[in-house]
Amino acid sequence: MKVLIVGGGGREHAIAAKIAENPDVTRLYAAPGNGGMATLCELVPLKATDVTGITAFCKEQKMDYVVVAPDDPLCLGLVDMLREAGIPAFGPDKKAAIIEGSKVFSKNLMKKYGIPTAAYETFDDYDRAVSYLNAQPEGRFVVKADGLALGKGVILCANRDEALEAVGTMMKHHAFGASGSRVVIEEFLEGPEVSVLAFTDGKVIRPMVSSMDHKRALDNDEGLNTGGMGTIAPNPCYTPEVAERCMREIFLPTMNAMNAEGRTFRGCLYFGLMLTKDGPKVIEYNCRFGDPETQVVLPLLKSDLLTIMQATTNGTLADVDVTFDTGSAACVVLSSGGYPQKYQTGYPISGLEEAGRTARVFHAGTRLDEDGRVLTSGGRVLGVTATAPTLREAIERAYGAAEKISFTDLHMRHDIGQRALREVHT
Ligand code: AMP
Ligand code: GLY
Repeated sequence: MKVLIVGGGGREHAIAAKIAENPDVTRLYAAPGNGGMATLCELVPLKATDVTGITAFCKEQKMDYVVVAPDDPLCLGLVDMLREAGIPAFGPDKKAAIIEGSKVFSKNLMKKYGIPTAAYETFDDYDRAVSYLNAQPEGRFVVKADGLALGKGVILCANRDEALEAVGTMMKHHAFGASGSRVVIEEFLEGPEVSVLAFTDGKVIRPMVSSMDHKRALDNDEGLNTGGMGTIAPNPCYTPEVAERCMREIFLPTMNAMNAEGRTFRGCLYFGLMLTKDGPKVIEYNCRFGDPETQVVLPLLKSDLLTIMQATTNGTLADVDVTFDTGSAACVVLSSGGYPQKYQTGYPISGLEEAGRTARVFHAGTRLDEDGRVLTSGGRVLGVTATAPTLREAIERAYGAAEKISFTDLHMRHDIGQRALREVHT
C-alpha cells in the first residue's frame, strides 16, 4: 500500500511511525513532513493547505490511502476532494470539520443537543458585545474568535475590563483577521483539563487513552498559551466513572448530534474537557488528533493504527480492535526560545541519536540541510516521548532523554506531568 500523511509536525511524525508498523505499507509519503519524518517517509514538497496540489499528486501516484492530520486541510475539504478522486482518506469531510472550524457552530450544536459546555453568547457586532459585557456582573470571562486562529484565538480574561479589551482586539483591531469578526464570550470554567481523542465512524465511538496537555510556555502554567509544551497519558483525573459519564453525556451525544445535523463525523474527534464540580464540560472540539497529545497516545496503542483508520472511513469501526497498553507515557516538547512569539531558527541539533536510545524523538520544527544535518526550523522543534509502567518513570525517562539534546536557544518546561503526579498521590 502507498500511504500519504498530510502535515509536518510532531503529531504527523508519531502517526507516520505507527503506520509504518503495518507490514502492508510499502511506501509512505509525507507532505510536507519534516527532518525526522525523512527517515520513514518520502517527503513531498507540498504545503498541507495546498489541497489541489495534494489531490493531483495522489491521483498521479495512485495513492491507496491518505491521512489528513491538520485542521486547515480538513476544513478546506481535502477529504472530500480526495474522495471525489476515488482515494479513501482518514479525517472528516468539510461539513463535519466545521465542528472545529467554527466555534459558533460547535457552541450552538452543544446548546441544541444538551451537551454540557460553558454558558456563552455569540456576537458579530462590536457594540452589542460591549453592552453585553457591561451588563454582566464583574468576574472572569473567556473571549474566543469564531474561526481557526492557530490555537491563539482564545483570551482568558481575569475581569470585565480585560474582556472588553479582548473584544476590541478581535472585533475592532482584527488581530486575528476574519476569524475574529464573530466572537464567543464564555463563562470561565474551573477544574482539571483532560484531552480525549476518539475514533468514530459515525456509528460507534471508541475513545483512546486520555491525556493532559500543558499549554502554557513556562513552568507552573505561566507565560503565554502555546500549541502545547508537553503531555502525559493516561490522565489520572479521568477515572473510569468520569469516562463512563463522558461517554453518556458527551461522546455519544456529540456523534449522534452530528449525524442528526447531516454532518456525520468520521475520523478522530478530539474532546477538550474541563472536569468542573458540576461534571465534565466541553471546552472545545477539534476535528483531528491533538498535538502533542498524539505523541503520548499513539505510543500506547497496541492495535494497528492503519486498520483502525480505514475502519473509520469504511464504517466498520465496530469490528476492529482498539486496545491500549496499561502503562503511561510522557512527552516533553523542546522549543525554540521565544516561542510562541519571535524566535530564531536554523540551528544544528545534537544528541538526537543518544536521546533516541531511551525515548522516541518526534520531530516537529526540523529540517535537513544539504549535508543531512538536522536543523531547527520552527517554534516547537522536537517532542521527546517515553513510555513506562508508571507515570513517574515515564516522566523521568522522557526528561533523561530530552536532556541529551541541545541546540541554541533550546527551551523546555521542567514540570511536565507534575500536576498529574500530585493527582495520583492525593
Ligand atoms: P482552546 O483554544 O479553546 O483550547 O482554549 C485554549 C485554552 O483556554 C484551553 O485549553 C483552556 O485551558 C482555556 N479555556 C478555554 N475555554 C475556557 C473556559 N470557558 N474556561 C476556562 N478556561 C478555558
Ligand atoms: N494540543 C491541543 C491541540 O492540538 O489543539
